[in-house]
Amino acid sequence: MDNTFLIGSFKQLLTLQNLPIKGALRDDDLEILDNGGLYIKNGLIEEVGNWGVLNQMLSPDIQRVDIDENSICLPSYIDCHTHIAFGGNRANDFAMRNAGRSYLEIAESGGGIWSTVQHTRACSQEEQEELILERAYQLLQQGITTIEVKSGYGLSIEEELKTLRAIQKAHQHSSVDLIATCLSAHIKPKDFDGTSEQYLQKIAHELFPILQAENLCHRIDAFVEKSAFSAQEILPYLQKAQALGFDITIHADQFTTSGSQVAINLGALSADHLEASGYIEIQNLANSNVVAVALPAASLGLGCDFTPARKLLDAGASLAIATDWNPGSAPMGQLITSASIFATMQKLSNAEILAGITFRAAKALGLADRGRLQKGYLADFVLYQTNHYQQIIYQQGRLQPSEVWKNGQRIFNK
Ligand code: NIG
Ligand code: FE
Repeated sequence: MDNTFLIGSFKQLLTLQNLPIKGALRDDDLEILDNGGLYIKNGLIEEVGNWGVLNQMLSPDIQRVDIDENSICLPSYIDCHTHIAFGGNRANDFAMRNAGRSYLEIAESGGGIWSTVQHTRACSQEEQEELILERAYQLLQQGITTIEVKSGYGLSIEEELKTLRAIQKAHQHSSVDLIATCLSAHIKPKDFDGTSEQYLQKIAHELFPILQAENLCHRIDAFVEKSAFSAQEILPYLQKAQALGFDITIHADQFTTSGSQVAINLGALSADHLEASGYIEIQNLANSNVVAVALPAASLGLGCDFTPARKLLDAGASLAIATDWNPGSAPMGQLITSASIFATMQKLSNAEILAGITFRAAKALGLADRGRLQKGYLADFVLYQTNHYQQIIYQQGRLQPSEVWKNGQRIFNK
């Protein structure tokens, strides 16, 4: 399809242009164009402006795509933290936790991350690809066109490769962008005969070169936590990854602190979770360029505190919001619903939520080509049939996109 056209007119067009990467935002800061239009050229945004003006300016030869005038348009969303490459489910963990059972009791009865590792290993690469594509489609219907996907339920060289190859294949067969991350440092696998350091050394030594040779991913993640890897254990592993040119992201301060400082010291792209971060961690994150990624669906899944987003933003940090979709802590997989609840609990503005799932989430993935509607950016956008953008967060997920566009192509139409 020729993807050069003028699309509009939109009752409201939210560009998110000119908003800063860091710090608190007010809804008054949002640029809202009434009767807006987008001129798309070869899948990129060429002009953003008033539809009438653009219509007059552009040659009649250029295709017009007319939109119901009761529609609003904004950049499509970016889910910068998911674990959608998993087999099985953990409904029993969820029920046990709500019945008051401890983490240890759940693990002893066959639950926890290790149970998902076994279910994921039991899936072939093709089955994993199918599961990823199915879940990516559910996210696409919510208006998400870039999805980060982690490995981390394989936990051996071969099994991690299987998952990362499944993510690569799913990306090739999907209309959205899937960004792979290697989370081999999720936990030390129960069947590894050796210390945590030996496990990490083996991954770094044997897996990292294959990731590069097969171009499977450019990002390395680690779970820095008492039940996973200590700050001390993880440091040489992440330094090795950085020396090879990988970007770093960290599961940090989920239950205990230390991970966010590792992220800051290494200049990681993001530090994710942060439910346990206190005053010092918040100040240090705010003084860094690390994006703080909040995962409210994990707080809702586990029944624990939310990431201190209000304090992070007021201190000057950059805050992104993601689903963390995984079978253990965050089975919801609903970005707008979880972000809207987060907004009420942390007193976040619409602008802060929308920034957190668009250009600030792009920053967490090291991407500078998406998340705003401005010249030169990807023509990735979402439409809603409503008369005001406030309806999106207000309806807490009930209002769903009427259309989703990626690289100037309509990829979803309700
Ligand atoms: O982001 N915190 C570590 N990893 C996941 C949970 C993984 C699981 O329980 O399966 C998370 O919440
Ligand atoms: Fe996670």
